Amino acid sequence: MADRHFVVLDDHDTLVAAAAERIASLLERVDEHAAVCLTGGSTIVPVYRRLAARPLREKIPIGRIDWFFGDERFVPAGHGLSNAVQAREVLLDPLGVPPARIHAMPTDAPDPDAAARRYEGALMAHYGADRFDRARPLFDLVLLGMGADGHAASLFPGADGLDERERWVIGVDMAGQPPLVPRVTLTLPALASSRAMLFIVSGRDKRAALSRILAGDDLPAARARSAGETLWLVDRAAAPDTLTKDLS
Ligand code: 6PG
Repeated sequence: MADRHFVVLDDHDTLVAAAAERIASLLERVDEHAAVCLTGGSTIVPVYRRLAARPLREKIPIGRIDWFFGDERFVPAGHGLSNAVQAREVLLDPLGVPPARIHAMPTDAPDPDAAARRYEGALMAHYGADRFDRARPLFDLVLLGMGADGHAASLFPGADGLDERERWVIGVDMAGQPPLVPRVTLTLPALASSRAMLFIVSGRDKRAALSRILAGDDLPAARARSAGETLWLVDRAAAPDTLTKDLS
């Protein structure tokens, strides 16, 4: 099994700073044609803001990176609940990323599954193949949050899509947590095709799910693993007692 590590940060601000530094130092080193998979949710927002501001913004080689999304709420383009709208506002526009480098999930398709198929086509075109090659991951970096129920991207506990092996992207008719709108999400194999995966988790309401993951429960966030390195950054409020502080 590929590497997975958990690091506990003292508080929310320290978590945000550590996450932003980690992302910037990974992005600083990417080659041409790099791909980053962004997350939605609220925890990531201050991280994005920090990345878009000095000094970290100077490390991000925007000419070398294409930006994708791990999931999207199936709402009209420009809607306030859209993960792409959020990422544009707080990260991509402030960084000056050219629109052609931003690959939002299409929500003007007739339904989430049709949107998923279109996005899968876009990912395959970028990757240049319709099968994953372990030697050549799709993403340089995948960012994820975890819901209090243990979901990751829009893969909710008990969903059929968790066992998907062929598709890269699927439609989700019913979200397991608010906002209760349909979703489009990358599948576990697509998320796994990455050099690095970074979970950023904050707050007391995440502690129970994290305890279950550490105890070996099969929650979606536990199954989201990179073929490369998977790092969980969690603040003390979210950390169960079994996780000791480790800033190494
Ligand atoms: C979304 C997500 C989702 C999110 C987690 C954590 O569209 O909501 O991408 O998977 O990352 O629910 O969200 P919070 O950071 O708000 O707890």
